Amino acid sequence: MYVLGIETSCDETSAGIVKDGAEVMSNIVSSSLQFHQKYGGVVPEIASRMQLETITQVADSAITSAGIRRNDIALVSVTCGPGLLGSLLVGISFAKSVSLGLNVPLLGIDHLTSHIYASFLDGGVRLPFVGLVVSGGHTSLYYVKDFDAITCLGATRDDACGEAFDKVAKILRLGYPGGPFIEKIAKKGNPYKIRFTCSKTENPLDFSFSGIKTAVLYYVQKSAKVHSSSAISSRLKNDIAASFQEAAIDTLIRKSFRACQMKKVNRLVIGGGVAANNRLREKFYKAARERHCNVYFPSKEFCMDNAAMVAGLAYRLFKKGRVSGLDLNAHLD
Ligand code: KG4
Ligand code: ZN
Repeated sequence: MYVLGIETSCDETSAGIVKDGAEVMSNIVSSSLQFHQKYGGVVPEIASRMQLETITQVADSAITSAGIRRNDIALVSVTCGPGLLGSLLVGISFAKSVSLGLNVPLLGIDHLTSHIYASFLDGGVRLPFVGLVVSGGHTSLYYVKDFDAITCLGATRDDACGEAFDKVAKILRLGYPGGPFIEKIAKKGNPYKIRFTCSKTENPLDFSFSGIKTAVLYYVQKSAKVHSSSAISSRLKNDIAASFQEAAIDTLIRKSFRACQMKKVNRLVIGGGVAANNRLREKFYKAARERHCNVYFPSKEFCMDNAAMVAGLAYRLFKKGRVSGLDLNAHLD
Protein backbone atom coordinates (compact mmCIF):
# COMPACT_ATOMS: atom_id res chain seq x y z
CA MET A 1 0.00 0.00 0.00
CA TYR A 2 1.46 3.36 -1.08
CA VAL A 3 1.00 6.25 1.35
CA LEU A 4 1.69 9.88 0.48
CA GLY A 5 3.13 11.82 3.42
CA ILE A 6 3.14 15.62 3.71
CA GLU A 7 5.16 17.45 6.37
CA THR A 8 5.09 21.25 6.68
CA SER A 9 5.33 21.85 10.43
CA CYS A 10 8.15 24.40 10.34
CA ASP A 11 10.55 25.63 7.61
CA GLU A 12 10.81 22.36 5.66
CA THR A 13 8.34 21.46 2.91
CA SER A 14 8.47 17.70 2.51
CA ALA A 15 6.53 15.03 0.62
CA GLY A 16 7.28 11.34 0.37
CA ILE A 17 5.90 7.98 -0.65
CA VAL A 18 6.27 5.00 1.70
CA LYS A 19 5.18 1.47 0.86
CA ASP A 20 3.66 -0.66 3.63
CA GLY A 21 4.92 1.54 6.46
CA ALA A 22 8.66 0.97 6.05
CA GLU A 23 9.86 1.00 2.44
CA VAL A 24 10.74 4.59 1.56
CA MET A 25 10.12 5.06 -2.17
CA SER A 26 10.83 8.81 -2.07
CA ASN A 27 11.41 11.55 0.48
CA ILE A 28 11.74 15.06 -0.95
CA VAL A 29 12.67 17.89 1.41
CA SER A 30 12.84 21.55 0.42
CA SER A 31 13.91 24.02 3.08
CA SER A 32 13.37 27.77 3.32
CA LEU A 33 16.30 27.99 5.77
CA GLN A 34 18.30 30.41 3.63
CA PHE A 35 15.54 33.02 3.96
CA HIS A 36 15.56 32.79 7.79
CA GLN A 37 19.30 32.68 8.42
CA LYS A 38 19.83 36.43 8.56
CA TYR A 39 17.17 36.69 11.30
CA GLY A 40 18.87 34.00 13.45
CA GLY A 41 15.70 31.88 13.63
CA VAL A 42 12.63 30.81 11.66
CA VAL A 43 10.24 33.65 10.74
CA PRO A 44 6.75 32.03 10.70
CA GLU A 45 5.34 34.33 8.01
CA ILE A 46 8.22 33.62 5.60
CA ALA A 47 8.03 29.89 6.37
CA SER A 48 4.32 29.59 5.50
CA ARG A 49 4.69 31.66 2.33
CA MET A 50 7.50 29.43 1.14
CA GLN A 51 5.45 26.31 2.00
CA LEU A 52 2.68 27.65 -0.22
CA GLU A 53 5.07 28.33 -3.09
CA THR A 54 6.76 24.93 -3.05
CA ILE A 55 4.27 22.30 -1.83
CA THR A 56 2.81 21.36 -5.24
CA GLN A 57 6.23 20.96 -6.85
CA VAL A 58 7.59 18.96 -3.91
CA ALA A 59 4.60 16.59 -3.92
CA ASP A 60 4.84 16.09 -7.72
CA SER A 61 8.50 15.32 -7.39
CA ALA A 62 7.85 12.79 -4.57
CA ILE A 63 5.40 10.90 -6.80
CA THR A 64 7.70 10.98 -9.84
CA SER A 65 10.80 9.83 -7.96
CA ALA A 66 8.84 7.01 -6.30
CA GLY A 67 8.09 5.75 -9.83
CA ILE A 68 4.36 5.42 -9.16
CA ARG A 69 1.22 6.94 -10.67
CA ARG A 70 -1.05 9.25 -8.68
CA ASN A 71 -3.76 6.63 -8.70
CA ASP A 72 -1.48 4.17 -6.89
CA ILE A 73 -1.71 6.33 -3.74
CA ALA A 74 -4.10 4.69 -1.30
CA LEU A 75 -3.85 7.10 1.64
CA VAL A 76 -2.87 10.76 2.11
CA SER A 77 -1.24 11.63 5.44
CA VAL A 78 -0.19 14.99 6.82
CA THR A 79 1.44 16.45 9.94
CA CYS A 80 -1.31 18.25 11.85
CA GLY A 81 0.77 19.54 14.81
CA PRO A 82 2.52 20.68 16.84
CA GLY A 83 4.28 23.25 14.70
CA LEU A 84 3.85 26.73 13.22
CA LEU A 85 0.17 27.38 12.56
CA GLY A 86 0.51 28.94 9.09
CA SER A 87 2.93 26.26 7.90
CA LEU A 88 0.77 23.43 9.22
CA LEU A 89 -2.34 24.84 7.54
CA VAL A 90 -0.65 24.86 4.13
CA GLY A 91 0.15 21.15 4.41
CA ILE A 92 -3.26 20.24 5.80
CA SER A 93 -5.18 22.15 3.09
CA PHE A 94 -3.01 20.62 0.39
CA ALA A 95 -3.45 17.11 1.79
CA LYS A 96 -7.23 17.56 1.95
CA SER A 97 -7.37 18.61 -1.69
CA VAL A 98 -5.25 15.62 -2.81
CA SER A 99 -7.37 13.25 -0.74
CA LEU A 100 -10.57 14.68 -2.27
CA GLY A 101 -9.12 14.72 -5.79
CA LEU A 102 -7.94 11.11 -5.65
CA ASN A 103 -10.90 9.97 -3.56
CA VAL A 104 -8.70 8.27 -0.98
CA PRO A 105 -8.76 8.57 2.83
CA LEU A 106 -6.95 11.29 4.77
CA LEU A 107 -5.06 10.90 8.04
CA GLY A 108 -3.64 13.62 10.30
CA ILE A 109 -0.39 12.66 12.07
CA ASP A 110 1.18 13.99 15.26
CA HIS A 111 4.62 15.45 14.55
CA LEU A 112 6.32 14.16 17.70
CA THR A 113 5.05 10.61 17.29
CA SER A 114 6.28 10.64 13.70
CA HIS A 115 9.79 11.63 14.89
CA ILE A 116 9.74 8.51 17.07
CA TYR A 117 8.45 6.40 14.16
CA ALA A 118 11.46 7.47 12.02
CA SER A 119 13.54 4.59 13.44
CA PHE A 120 10.94 2.11 12.16
CA LEU A 121 11.73 3.14 8.58
CA ASP A 122 15.03 1.30 8.97
CA GLY A 123 13.30 -1.72 10.52
CA GLY A 124 14.42 -3.85 13.44
CA VAL A 125 12.73 -2.06 16.35
CA ARG A 126 10.15 -3.82 18.51
CA LEU A 127 7.44 -2.53 20.84
CA PRO A 128 7.25 -1.51 23.68
CA PHE A 129 10.00 1.06 24.21
CA VAL A 130 10.86 4.42 25.70
CA GLY A 131 10.92 7.17 23.05
CA LEU A 132 12.92 10.40 23.30
CA VAL A 133 12.08 13.28 20.95
CA VAL A 134 14.86 15.81 20.95
CA SER A 135 14.29 18.57 18.42
CA GLY A 136 14.23 22.34 17.99
CA GLY A 137 10.75 22.63 19.46
CA HIS A 138 10.50 19.68 21.86
CA THR A 139 12.34 17.51 24.33
CA SER A 140 9.99 14.78 25.52
CA LEU A 141 10.09 11.25 26.88
CA TYR A 142 7.35 8.76 26.08
CA TYR A 143 6.41 5.21 26.95
CA VAL A 144 5.30 3.67 23.66
CA LYS A 145 3.26 0.50 24.15
CA ASP A 146 2.03 0.86 20.60
CA PHE A 147 1.67 3.81 18.24
CA ASP A 148 -1.89 4.35 19.41
CA ALA A 149 -1.01 3.82 23.09
CA ILE A 150 1.59 6.44 23.99
CA THR A 151 2.08 7.99 27.44
CA CYS A 152 4.12 11.14 27.96
CA LEU A 153 6.57 10.66 30.84
CA GLY A 154 8.21 14.07 30.80
CA ALA A 155 8.82 17.17 28.69
CA THR A 156 10.79 20.37 28.80
CA ARG A 157 9.61 23.02 31.25
CA ASP A 158 11.18 25.82 29.20
CA ASP A 159 13.53 25.68 26.18
CA ALA A 160 13.83 22.59 24.00
CA CYS A 161 17.27 21.01 23.70
CA GLY A 162 17.70 22.02 20.02
CA GLU A 163 16.56 25.53 20.90
CA ALA A 164 19.32 25.68 23.55
CA PHE A 165 21.88 24.57 20.91
CA ASP A 166 20.56 27.33 18.64
CA LYS A 167 20.70 29.99 21.37
CA VAL A 168 24.18 29.01 22.54
CA ALA A 169 25.34 29.16 18.91
CA LYS A 170 23.87 32.66 18.69
CA ILE A 171 25.71 33.71 21.88
CA LEU A 172 28.95 32.34 20.34
CA ARG A 173 28.07 34.08 17.03
CA LEU A 174 28.24 30.85 15.04
CA GLY A 175 25.16 30.85 12.79
CA TYR A 176 21.73 29.24 12.47
CA PRO A 177 20.63 26.48 13.00
CA GLY A 178 23.14 26.20 15.82
CA GLY A 179 23.30 22.44 16.45
CA PRO A 180 25.65 21.50 13.57
CA PHE A 181 27.91 24.55 14.30
CA ILE A 182 28.19 23.65 18.00
CA GLU A 183 28.92 20.02 17.11
CA LYS A 184 31.64 21.06 14.67
CA ILE A 185 33.61 23.36 16.99
CA ALA A 186 33.00 21.14 20.03
CA LYS A 187 35.22 18.52 18.36
CA LYS A 188 38.17 20.87 18.86
CA GLY A 189 37.26 21.76 22.45
CA ASN A 190 37.64 20.23 25.89
CA PRO A 191 34.23 18.99 27.14
CA TYR A 192 35.48 18.93 30.76
CA LYS A 193 36.89 22.47 30.77
CA ILE A 194 33.81 24.28 32.13
CA ARG A 195 31.22 22.71 34.42
CA PHE A 196 27.83 23.65 32.97
CA THR A 197 24.77 21.85 34.38
CA CYS A 198 21.10 21.64 33.45
CA SER A 199 18.64 22.84 36.11
CA LYS A 200 16.84 20.28 38.27
CA THR A 201 13.15 19.65 37.62
CA GLU A 202 10.40 18.62 40.02
CA ASN A 203 9.46 15.63 37.85
CA PRO A 204 12.81 13.86 37.30
CA LEU A 205 11.76 13.00 33.73
CA ASP A 206 11.08 16.62 32.78
CA PHE A 207 13.84 18.73 31.22
CA SER A 208 15.03 22.31 31.60
CA PHE A 209 17.55 23.87 29.21
CA SER A 210 16.93 27.56 29.82
CA GLY A 211 19.29 27.82 32.83
CA ILE A 212 22.27 26.26 31.09
CA LYS A 213 21.85 28.62 28.14
CA THR A 214 21.90 31.61 30.53
CA ALA A 215 24.94 30.14 32.30
CA VAL A 216 26.74 30.07 28.92
CA LEU A 217 25.72 33.69 28.28
CA TYR A 218 27.08 34.88 31.67
CA TYR A 219 30.28 32.87 31.18
CA VAL A 220 30.88 34.48 27.78
CA GLN A 221 30.13 37.99 29.13
CA LYS A 222 32.46 37.47 32.10
CA SER A 223 35.28 36.11 29.94
CA ALA A 224 34.99 39.01 27.50
CA LYS A 225 35.16 41.49 30.42
CA VAL A 226 38.26 39.82 31.86
CA HIS A 227 40.00 40.18 28.51
CA SER A 228 38.49 43.68 27.97
CA SER A 229 37.24 42.59 24.59
CA SER A 230 33.84 42.25 22.90
CA ALA A 231 34.77 38.84 21.50
CA ILE A 232 36.31 35.73 23.04
CA SER A 233 39.04 33.54 21.52
CA SER A 234 38.15 30.66 19.21
CA ARG A 235 39.84 28.28 21.61
CA LEU A 236 37.54 29.36 24.43
CA LYS A 237 34.54 29.16 22.09
CA ASN A 238 35.48 25.54 21.31
CA ASP A 239 35.71 24.69 25.03
CA ILE A 240 32.38 26.39 25.78
CA ALA A 241 30.64 24.56 22.91
CA ALA A 242 32.13 21.20 23.97
CA SER A 243 31.30 21.71 27.66
CA PHE A 244 27.73 22.84 26.92
CA GLN A 245 27.13 19.97 24.48
CA GLU A 246 28.49 17.44 26.97
CA ALA A 247 26.24 18.67 29.78
CA ALA A 248 23.14 18.67 27.55
CA ILE A 249 23.85 15.14 26.27
CA ASP A 250 24.59 13.80 29.77
CA THR A 251 21.22 15.09 30.97
CA LEU A 252 19.40 13.45 28.05
CA ILE A 253 21.18 10.16 28.75
CA ARG A 254 20.53 10.17 32.50
CA LYS A 255 16.81 10.89 32.14
CA SER A 256 16.20 8.56 29.20
CA PHE A 257 17.70 5.53 30.93
CA ARG A 258 15.92 6.45 34.16
CA ALA A 259 12.68 6.28 32.15
CA CYS A 260 13.69 2.85 30.77
CA GLN A 261 14.35 1.65 34.30
CA MET A 262 11.01 2.99 35.55
CA LYS A 263 9.08 1.37 32.70
CA LYS A 264 11.19 -1.80 32.85
CA VAL A 265 12.07 -1.76 29.15
CA ASN A 266 15.50 -2.12 27.59
CA ARG A 267 14.71 -0.42 24.28
CA LEU A 268 15.22 3.30 23.74
CA VAL A 269 14.21 4.96 20.47
CA ILE A 270 15.47 8.48 19.74
CA GLY A 271 14.23 10.93 17.11
CA GLY A 272 14.35 14.63 16.15
CA GLY A 273 16.98 16.97 14.73
CA VAL A 274 19.37 16.83 17.72
CA ALA A 275 19.57 13.03 17.28
CA ALA A 276 21.77 13.76 14.23
CA ASN A 277 24.57 14.81 16.63
CA ASN A 278 27.45 12.30 16.47
CA ARG A 279 28.73 12.91 19.99
CA LEU A 280 25.19 12.30 21.27
CA ARG A 281 24.92 9.05 19.31
CA GLU A 282 28.30 7.76 20.53
CA LYS A 283 27.54 8.57 24.15
CA PHE A 284 24.06 7.00 24.01
CA TYR A 285 25.45 3.81 22.42
CA LYS A 286 28.12 3.56 25.12
CA ALA A 287 25.62 4.19 27.94
CA ALA A 288 23.26 1.59 26.44
CA ARG A 289 26.01 -1.04 26.30
CA GLU A 290 26.85 -0.43 29.95
CA ARG A 291 23.19 -0.85 30.90
CA HIS A 292 22.49 -3.83 28.60
CA CYS A 293 19.93 -1.79 26.69
CA ASN A 294 19.41 -1.25 22.97
CA VAL A 295 19.27 2.24 21.56
CA TYR A 296 17.89 3.06 18.08
CA PHE A 297 18.46 6.14 15.94
CA PRO A 298 16.94 6.88 12.53
CA SER A 299 19.39 7.42 9.69
CA LYS A 300 20.37 11.12 9.63
CA GLU A 301 18.08 11.88 6.70
CA PHE A 302 15.12 10.91 8.89
CA CYS A 303 16.23 12.78 12.04
CA MET A 304 15.25 16.16 10.56
CA ASP A 305 11.69 17.00 9.60
CA ASN A 306 10.66 14.75 6.70
CA ALA A 307 7.54 13.29 5.13
CA ALA A 308 8.64 9.64 5.07
CA MET A 309 8.19 9.33 8.84
CA VAL A 310 4.67 10.77 8.47
CA ALA A 311 3.65 8.35 5.72
CA GLY A 312 5.20 5.38 7.58
CA LEU A 313 3.34 6.08 10.81
CA ALA A 314 0.12 6.80 8.90
CA TYR A 315 0.18 3.29 7.40
CA ARG A 316 0.46 1.76 10.89
CA LEU A 317 -2.39 3.83 12.31
CA PHE A 318 -4.61 3.40 9.24
CA LYS A 319 -4.26 -0.38 9.63
CA LYS A 320 -5.55 0.09 13.18
CA GLY A 321 -8.65 1.85 11.82
CA ARG A 322 -7.60 5.48 12.18
CA VAL A 323 -8.82 7.97 9.59
CA SER A 324 -9.47 11.74 9.62
CA GLY A 325 -12.34 13.76 8.20
CA LEU A 326 -12.23 16.94 6.15
CA ASP A 327 -12.64 18.83 9.42
CA LEU A 328 -8.99 17.93 10.24
CA ASN A 329 -7.35 20.98 11.81
CA ALA A 330 -3.92 22.03 13.06
CA HIS A 331 -3.07 21.59 16.73
CA LEU A 332 -0.30 23.53 18.44
CA ASP A 333 0.65 21.24 21.34
O1 KG4 B 1 13.49 17.95 14.26
P1 KG4 B 1 13.95 19.23 13.66
O2 KG4 B 1 14.47 19.19 12.24
O3 KG4 B 1 12.83 20.31 13.69
C1 KG4 B 1 11.94 20.44 14.78
O4 KG4 B 1 10.91 19.71 14.80
O5 KG4 B 1 12.27 21.26 15.67
O6 KG4 B 1 15.11 19.80 14.63
C2 KG4 B 1 15.80 21.00 14.41
C3 KG4 B 1 16.76 21.21 15.58
C4 KG4 B 1 17.48 22.56 15.57
O7 KG4 B 1 17.37 23.15 16.85
C5 KG4 B 1 18.93 22.21 15.25
O8 KG4 B 1 19.88 23.09 15.81
C6 KG4 B 1 19.04 20.82 15.85
O9 KG4 B 1 17.80 20.21 15.55
N1 KG4 B 1 20.14 20.06 15.27
C7 KG4 B 1 21.23 19.64 15.96
C8 KG4 B 1 22.08 19.01 15.04
N2 KG4 B 1 21.48 19.04 13.80
C9 KG4 B 1 20.29 19.69 13.97
N3 KG4 B 1 21.53 19.77 17.26
C10 KG4 B 1 22.72 19.28 17.68
N4 KG4 B 1 23.60 18.66 16.84
C11 KG4 B 1 23.32 18.52 15.52
N5 KG4 B 1 24.20 17.93 14.71
ZN1 ZN C 1 10.49 18.06 13.99
